[in-house]
Amino acid sequence: MKLIIALYPLFYSLFFPLCGTSSSADDRRWLLSLVDLVELDYVDHCEQRASATWSELTGDSKGLSMKLERDKSFGMFARQQTTDVRSALTAHALAPDDNVLRRKVKLLLQPGDTLLETEQWMRLVTFGDTALNKIRFATNYDCDTNTNCTLRELNYNLARQQDEAKQRRMKASWERNLPNITDYLEHILPLLRNASKQNSYNSVEEYWDALGEYEGGLLKARELWDRIKPLYLKLHKYVALRLRGADA
Ligand SMILES: *[C@@H]1O[C@H](CO)[C@@H](O)[C@H](O)[C@H]1NC(C)=O
Ligand SMILES: *[C@@H]1O[C@H](CO)[C@@H](O)[C@H](O)[C@H]1NC(C)=O
Ligand SMILES: *[C@@H]1O[C@H](CO)[C@@H](O)[C@H](O)[C@H]1NC(C)=O
Repeated sequence: MKLIIALYPLFYSLFFPLCGTSSSADDRRWLLSLVDLVELDYVDHCEQRASATWSELTGDSKGLSMKLERDKSFGMFARQQTTDVRSALTAHALAPDDNVLRRKVKLLLQPGDTLLETEQWMRLVTFGDTALNKIRFATNYDCDTNTNCTLRELNYNLARQQDEAKQRRMKASWERNLPNITDYLEHILPLLRNASKQNSYNSVEEYWDALGEYEGGLLKARELWDRIKPLYLKLHKYVALRLRGADA
């Protein structure tokens, strides 16, 4: 679809040469066509990423690298299209009652984390994709058998294991395959602040509320959490004590 996007302005100026004085109808038509084309591009990217995700999930040896490559080009596309859409967004392009188009434009201009600078977007997806891939496909889990096992076998065996010392060892083998938490806290989580800024929000909180498209959602979540928290903490303490066993 890239080619079509690039050719479209040319087509437009060849066949509608008299539109120099931009009336609001022309501006709207132009914006609408661009939005349609960008949406088609999104569909293409979605398909590409879905097929890479499928390869990765089904254990294809090239799955992860394909997924990373497609995530990267998706990020670059999402950034680029905001420039195109912004340039088509003139003062007359949106009538006051043009709510559907206005919403589409908003979603295109504030797509979320993909607006990070390319290096930062890549850091984010590389961390996420690689971590998930490792957890899914590691074969060094401890199932308390002679050989190491897969995640599926670990889940199966952990659910049936009665001995707490063995459960703890099995859980530790799972923790060894988790991503580096220090790395996450220092280099990945702070990207959120940049993503909020790129999407024109003042705070991460505002940004997440907007992404959820549920006004006051974060406040509501906090309220619910306050109600659940006492029970959660009790359960957490119980499980932690059981798992820590004698050292608790
Ligand atoms: C199982 O995994 C552990 C931890 O990665 C490793 O040290 C050990 O050599 C593995 N054992 C077998 C039998 O593969
Ligand atoms: C985890 O990441 C930090 C910071 O990136 C690094 O200094 C540390 O060596 C890493 N730890 C492990 C176990 O890889
Ligand atoms: C956020 O963006 C700024 C400006 O591009 C950059 O210097 C900084 O390293 C970014 N933050 C992270 C966590 O990468």
